[in-house]
Amino acid sequence: MTTAAEAFASAKINLTLHVTGRRSDGYHLLDSLVVFADVGDRLILTAGANLSVAVTGPFAEGVPTDGRNLVWRAAEAAGWMGWIELEKNLPHGAGIGGGSADAAAVLRALHGQNPMGGIGAERALELGADVPVCLSSLPQRMRGIGEQLRPVQDVPGLNLVLVNPHVHVPTPAVFRELMHRENPAMQHCEGWDSGPAFLDWLGQQRNDLEIPARSLAPEIGEALSALDGAILSRMSGSGATCFGVYDTMDVARNAARRIAAKYPEWWVQATRTVGSDARQVSRATT
Ligand code: C5P
Repeated sequence: MTTAAEAFASAKINLTLHVTGRRSDGYHLLDSLVVFADVGDRLILTAGANLSVAVTGPFAEGVPTDGRNLVWRAAEAAGWMGWIELEKNLPHGAGIGGGSADAAAVLRALHGQNPMGGIGAERALELGADVPVCLSSLPQRMRGIGEQLRPVQDVPGLNLVLVNPHVHVPTPAVFRELMHRENPAMQHCEGWDSGPAFLDWLGQQRNDLEIPARSLAPEIGEALSALDGAILSRMSGSGATCFGVYDTMDVARNAARRIAAKYPEWWVQATRTVGSDARQVSRATT
């Protein structure tokens, strides 16, 4: 790449997150349905002689601009030099991708056609357990610690509200709080023939990190209660961002407005997910 390239790092949402075991190195085995939303961070990459990172946007504060930033490490892993402008629109350390989504966006911008961003599956995973899944923005079932990925068909686009109550819950601390590490995997994860069938199935799945995260940050419970009128509400990743699924985008936008008015200090965002089929999800969809 010789000129500037743009990349978009979509918010990653774990619609489900089952913790099914733990490896001998302490990493947890997961079974998760991951989708991506139309909100995210924006990146511009301009090739040059040195590597440098500049961060702007509403969530720029506290984001490192050196080798601690995953975009820096992703560029290094890809053997690329230049200037990376990163516009942080998403809260980071928040269960919706953060640094992993940004790193994956860098790899996509540099090596778009290569399934593992040109650096191989192992190195992508080393950058962060969520980097491989974030290389694609389509619905995927993620297993292992994040390295076993399979596209999932028939996931409808969802109308969501994302709510982050501005608390940071460190991922390792949340995993440490888990009472049970060997929980059932997801039931089948495909073949829904309608929006309601998908939602029924989704309602029967879990995020096993929700209870441990709520014990560390009770605000997560408040965020889930604030998502009133949602067909379903749940935490994403290790938190603290929660999502609510709504019937239509208008209903989602109205709910977002109500929540933002009540909790002006929270991050609240209505968004659509990218589905693997064209259907809108709503209870009325057949
Ligand atoms: O790889 P990533 O930066 O996403 O992980 C942060 C931390 O979360 C790890 O160091 C580990 O303590 C915990 N983790 C885990 N099992 C996973 C993913 C993360 O225990 N599958």
